Amino acid sequence: MTLIAPSILSADFADFGRQIRAVEDAGADWVHVDVMDNHFVPNLTFGPPAVKAFRPHVKTLMDVHLMIAPVDPSIPAYAEAGADRLTAHVEAGPHIHRTLQAIRDADMQAGVALNPGTPADAVENLLDLVDLVLVMTVNPGFGGQSFIDMTAKIARIRAMIGDRPVHIQVDGGITPETAPRVTRAGADVLVAGSAVFKGGTYADNIAAIRKAGDAATGRMA
Ligand code: DX5
Ligand code: ZN
Repeated sequence: MTLIAPSILSADFADFGRQIRAVEDAGADWVHVDVMDNHFVPNLTFGPPAVKAFRPHVKTLMDVHLMIAPVDPSIPAYAEAGADRLTAHVEAGPHIHRTLQAIRDADMQAGVALNPGTPADAVENLLDLVDLVLVMTVNPGFGGQSFIDMTAKIARIRAMIGDRPVHIQVDGGITPETAPRVTRAGADVLVAGSAVFKGGTYADNIAAIRKAGDAATGRMA
């Protein structure tokens, strides 16, 4: 089954607790939290106190996508705040291998993210250190941007992963129209912000993305 991780970047910023509970009740597999520092990306969102406030509302898994540089000094604070996974960008500093080790040493799952301009090779030597590779299909910083085709990169990373238990997550511009393109290439976790929070019901929106993703792979619920 294709996993769906709604991004609360597209939620109502005055009502996070209720909306986290609502997307989980509507079938979300994980809750995706976009941390932006107005330095690595041109936008500013959440820090450790916000992550800590979300914690009691998240019953599934709090999937924290760090768009910050540097990463290492903040790892203890996110561990303390209760993040289940930290995903760091390879572009965020010269020592991504050390960063991923530090995340695991702090007893969290570790993910590694790639911007659209970064080749698949950048994760080749990191695959034994991670639970997840995040392939960005927009340049990070904002919700609601147009999907950039990264299917060849996803397929290359799926082949590199082989039989390791590593997820491929895709983030940016995911809708029922774009979902099949990335799951066919090998992605198994889809982040969606606008397509979940756009209106209508969360359950319908999540189900539509999941169904489109599953249909392309023959994966069933
Ligand atoms: C972009 C963030 C995404 C974003 C996705 O920098 O990492 O998680 O919220 O939003 P949509 O689904 O609207 O492209
Ligand atoms: Zn994200």
